[in-house]
Amino acid sequence: MSESVRVCVIGAGRAGMVHARNVRWHVPRAELVAIVDADLERARNAAEELELEKRFFPDLESALENSEFDAVMITTPTFTHADLAITAANHGKHIFCEKPMALTLEECDRMIEAAKNSNVLLQIGFMRRFDPPFVQAKKQIDEGMIGKPLIVRTLTRGPGLPPPWAHDIRRSNGMLAEVNSHDFDTIRWLGGGEFVNVFARATVNKAFEVQQTYPDFYDTAVVSFSLSNGTFGLLDGVCPADYGYDARAEVVGTEGVLVIGELHSVPLRRVTKSADVFEPRIPSWPVRFATAYQAEAQHFVECILNGKQPQVTGMDGRKALEGVIAANESIRTGNPVSLPLG
Ligand SMILES: NC(=O)c1ccc[n+]([C@@H]2O[C@H](COP(=O)([O-])OP(=O)(O)OC[C@H]3O[C@@H](n4cnc5c(N)ncnc54)[C@H](O)[C@@H]3O)[C@@H](O)[C@H]2O)c1
Repeated sequence: MSESVRVCVIGAGRAGMVHARNVRWHVPRAELVAIVDADLERARNAAEELELEKRFFPDLESALENSEFDAVMITTPTFTHADLAITAANHGKHIFCEKPMALTLEECDRMIEAAKNSNVLLQIGFMRRFDPPFVQAKKQIDEGMIGKPLIVRTLTRGPGLPPPWAHDIRRSNGMLAEVNSHDFDTIRWLGGGEFVNVFARATVNKAFEVQQTYPDFYDTAVVSFSLSNGTFGLLDGVCPADYGYDARAEVVGTEGVLVIGELHSVPLRRVTKSADVFEPRIPSWPVRFATAYQAEAQHFVECILNGKQPQVTGMDGRKALEGVIAANESIRTGNPVSLPLG
């Protein structure tokens, strides 16, 4: 077994820098050896911050030619994931790929196939599966502490609009993919079944200026699900939600309920005689899920070192995307959609 895993991060944007900083400083037995970004200036600045000297590159191919690594973390826009993952797999590199796994199910299938053929690991960035309250909830459901799950409710509301490339639904699958992917995964994971039916509604309430350029754009959505084991799922998304970052879930079972997550970031509340109540809000996802991002990267490295399959696989990424695609179809047609998709 090697001593450490050498990692190249591809994409030095918002998610990429979270992972790059973790791999560089917070993940034992991981070594950040290179950073790639199509925007070379961004790559250069990232390399400087990460103390990587000259090991920054404009594309994966030049990183492959000029540095040695065992694994990639793909943190670029969704429409680039499949090509990058397949190139990495073909060069024998293990793959951590941010959610949403890809743009189409066909891309997901090719990624899974490439990883299998090259005998490399493929982990998808559903970090909620490594967040302590979510992990505890899953354990308690599996131990039967709330009986059989009846309804999984989950929500994600983001403080700002997603990056401009995500405004075009054809290049991102929209807010349900970009922001709510995690909820689709959470409903499958905590609900313990597969999506068999999805009904979704969406509209624009805030970002009217984006809708002018992209008529299919939506910033508010609700989705309901039936799972194969009879459990129901419900999710909602609003982005931008001006009050901060909000990611919570609730699982109602035959014998109890689990409530996961808080609206505020630390247990501090101020109440004054003017009747104002102040609780510090959660500013952003890197803050709310800081522990989970580290833990998922740690898990990826440990799986590589120990030859184990990751807990969150390409198939999990594919199933979540299938739910997103079905929900977008439901929004378009106004009808419920049955799964699996043909
Ligand atoms: N797990 C999470 O909570 C989470 C949070 C945010 C974003 N994400 C995901 O991470 C991915 C990136 O999102 P982001 O918000 O960081 O985007 P971003 O726009 O901030 O950053 C993307 C970066 O990738 C670079 N890039 C684009 N194409 C490239 C290519 N072919 N090769 C190399 N670099 C390229 C861009 O120049 C940019 O710097 C998306 O899939 C997104 O859904 C996940």
